[in-house]
Amino acid sequence: MHTTAATDIRILPAELNAFVRDIWLAAGSEAREAALVADHLVMSNLTGHDSHGVGMIPRYARALGEGGLVLNRHAQVVRDAGAVLTIEGGHGFGQVIAAEAMEHAIARARKLGVAAVGLRNSHHIGRIGHWAEQCAAAGLVSFHFVNVAGFAQVAPFGGMGGRFGTNPFCAAFPRPGREPLVLDFATSSIAVNKTRVAYNRGVPVPADCLMDHEGNPTTDPKVMHEAPFGSLKTFGGHKGSGMAVMCEVFAGALSGGYTTHETTKVKGSDIVNCMLSVVMDPQAFDAPDAQAEAEAFVAWVRETRRLPGHSEIEMPGEPERRHRAERSEAGIPIDPTTWNQILAAARGFGVAEARIAGLALR
Ligand SMILES: NC(=O)c1ccc[n+]([C@@H]2O[C@H](COP(=O)([O-])OP(=O)(O)OC[C@H]3O[C@@H](n4cnc5c(N)ncnc54)[C@H](O)[C@@H]3O)[C@@H](O)[C@H]2O)c1
Repeated sequence: MHTTAATDIRILPAELNAFVRDIWLAAGSEAREAALVADHLVMSNLTGHDSHGVGMIPRYARALGEGGLVLNRHAQVVRDAGAVLTIEGGHGFGQVIAAEAMEHAIARARKLGVAAVGLRNSHHIGRIGHWAEQCAAAGLVSFHFVNVAGFAQVAPFGGMGGRFGTNPFCAAFPRPGREPLVLDFATSSIAVNKTRVAYNRGVPVPADCLMDHEGNPTTDPKVMHEAPFGSLKTFGGHKGSGMAVMCEVFAGALSGGYTTHETTKVKGSDIVNCMLSVVMDPQAFDAPDAQAEAEAFVAWVRETRRLPGHSEIEMPGEPERRHRAERSEAGIPIDPTTWNQILAAARGFGVAEARIAGLALR
């Protein structure tokens, strides 16, 4: 669902990155925080996940104004049990907190072969693939279960009321000399922020993703943005529903954070994520042929005969790299509604009109 339109503005990634950095510097972020947030948001757009890109800025600005997002916080290890770490996010920028949590996990997995990190109370940690890629770049295998604490927007299988968030799961396998395998998806049929992108663009979402407040199927994204609110369905029927439950419990409960229920339902604009990450050193297994076995499998899978309309068999992580190559050249498309919301947020933080007027748009 990577819709574009003739009315979109296009902006090159470096130009957008510098602008996003200036927005957060103006808001009061330290230089490293502003850079980490800009890198993460622009990379999400580059990989084709506009749902988790710069379109989040207006939401983050509201959360900051309401006190739900706190600038210049760092990941705090609150319990160190060797291979198990518990980390408090303190409602700081997830783009900083998760990066630092992964630094701890990587150091511990290198030392012990495996590390499990329970991260709690971080503000939105965005595209989870970013964190798995950080582990993979360090040569480590990882998987991650995430809850969106207090977001009752997804209905359980067989239900019609939202009971949990879009709870993403992510796993990555590094391949020396090649790009890693990175599987990264919401357990809802689509990420809720993809309904925001469709709502802003005035286009429907794919069929079988949404229901209205009475449980009727709909493709109108407004049911997630205007009362009476509907809910998202899980992916894969009962399987996605079950996986979302495990994400909620592993991430929200085991980290010492919280799960979604009546007393924790969100009231403001902030987005709280908790994440259970398990990070492993592949060298610690007795598996000298692990890479060769993985490559033999990938090659075998690709060789299958294709169904009509499918020119190739892709591996997890490849669509994101395809988008990154395309958008690095052509620029990142942003619809006018989202762009105006971003500019309003920038102005709200005091970014100068001359800076905005000087942006090179395509
Ligand atoms: N922080 C949060 O609270 C939160 C919540 C929900 C989702 N998210 C993020 O939203 C993003 C989008 O999620 P989504 O569910 O819309 O993703 P999606 O449905 O686009 O699925 C993406 C995954 O499927 C893989 N994939 C796509 N086509 C494939 C193919 N033909 N063969 C093999 N693999 C293929 C991709 O490489 C990727 O790993 C993710 O980055 C996720 O982490 C974050």
